[in-house]
Amino acid sequence: MLSIQDMFVFCKKKGFVFPDSEIYGGLAGFWDYGPLGIELKRNIINEWWQRFVHEREDIVGIDGAIITNPKVWEASGHVDHFLDVLVECGKCNYRVKAESLIEDFLGIRAEGLKPEDFDRLIKENKIRCPKCKGEFKKARFLQLMFETSVGPVDGVKSYLRPETAQLIFINFRNVVETSRVKLPFGIAQVGKAFRNEISPRDFLFRAREFEQMEIEYFVHPDRLDECSYFDEVKDMEVNVLTAKMQEAGVKEAKKMRVADLVTERIATKWHAYWIALAYKWFVDLGINPKNLRLREHLHSELAHYAGACIDIEYRFPFGWKEIYGNADRKQFDLQQHSNYSKKELCLYDQATKQKVVPYVAAEPSQGVDRTFLAFLFDAYSYDKKRGNVVLKLHPRLAPIKVAVFPLLSNKPELIKKAREVYTTLKSHFNCFYDQSGSIGRRYARQDEIGTPFCVTIDFDSLKQNDVTVRDRDTTKQTRVKIDDLAGWIGKHLK
Ligand code: GAP
Repeated sequence: MLSIQDMFVFCKKKGFVFPDSEIYGGLAGFWDYGPLGIELKRNIINEWWQRFVHEREDIVGIDGAIITNPKVWEASGHVDHFLDVLVECGKCNYRVKAESLIEDFLGIRAEGLKPEDFDRLIKENKIRCPKCKGEFKKARFLQLMFETSVGPVDGVKSYLRPETAQLIFINFRNVVETSRVKLPFGIAQVGKAFRNEISPRDFLFRAREFEQMEIEYFVHPDRLDECSYFDEVKDMEVNVLTAKMQEAGVKEAKKMRVADLVTERIATKWHAYWIALAYKWFVDLGINPKNLRLREHLHSELAHYAGACIDIEYRFPFGWKEIYGNADRKQFDLQQHSNYSKKELCLYDQATKQKVVPYVAAEPSQGVDRTFLAFLFDAYSYDKKRGNVVLKLHPRLAPIKVAVFPLLSNKPELIKKAREVYTTLKSHFNCFYDQSGSIGRRYARQDEIGTPFCVTIDFDSLKQNDVTVRDRDTTKQTRVKIDDLAGWIGKHLK
């Protein structure tokens, strides 16, 4: 099985992702996307925005600032609660996130534990520093937000946002006043988030700078189970690891209908609906459902704002890990910002003729970078017969949609025709032109980066004005008229 280290090597070699500032030795937890990586990442974001914003009438988008008034983070609870527990070796000063240390040594989940719980576990299990076998000092909390200073002289202390969500809450009033939205509705945002992780690791999985795609979905607090779209998802089957199963030591998820999440009181209808939509989004874009599961949070790991939370986890080579979280955030954030800013953050409800603070029934929150990794792992395969990697990305996600080749690189008439075809296709799709090496080698290079179609111009093309289109997954070749080519490819990219 491909390890996360192998995936890093593959991504770097092919130009998907590079270590940030590599020529200066890099910086832990920071990554730069290369020419292919940026295409895949943009396609992921576009697919998400298309499905959850453009195709819906109940969602609008915003793009908030990364640095904002520091009171935002006091009100949201991040200054007091957005902390990680650090343990440090007394001998060699090796520092590690306590949660990761315990998970690595004992194989148990340790989210939400306090410093004293970690001290006890370290003592009871005689855990020593993995670097020098020294003893650990007492565990302590560390703030996860990056601090910054705003203004060149005597700057005001603020923070880089650790989630995009708060920008949605603080713009709630502006959006309501300008967009004519009515409950139930959502506000979406895609953008960077920053966390000063103690132990960035597993490549893009735990980074210090990453990107989120988030929605805050507001409903009337008395109507958490009045979801008019619920019938669309109620019979969908999903793999679930409930909190009860985890408490009983069960490791394997079980199949449940989305409706069962509601009857078993794991989620309200709105909450379950939004989780189902995300699960479906992953599957529609090619993730094998066997590699996806829902995991209900245990009470002890709930964030300070959450009433309930369900993650979507992906089966990475380093275990089942969260790629998406969806919390029931209640009225917590709007109430907090209302108290701190002294501004009313409520809506007038026509039905009851009363003002109401909307309830965040669902907060779909998805990491772009983790989604990127999951799609790559799921698509990666090695074809023994061909002797090369085939990256079976969904055509809509593929960085390059079509590669165009002249059959032979020493025939000017083939090159001329191929360049003409390439120029025409380039105005429709992201294309690549290649005339170097054997045709087999050119196919292999495109297979490895996930290009769904390769178009070859041969001598028949000159007479018949047609080309061969080779399919990445089946290697099947189809003859298509050049005049119909853009339409044919457009149809097959869906
Ligand atoms: N607004 C809710 C929120 O931020 P979260 O579970 O802390 O919730 C949401 O983060 C998603 O952001 C995660 O599911 C994950 O995909 C991504 N994420 C969080 N921390 C990350 C990190 N250090 N590196 C990469 N992605 C991260």
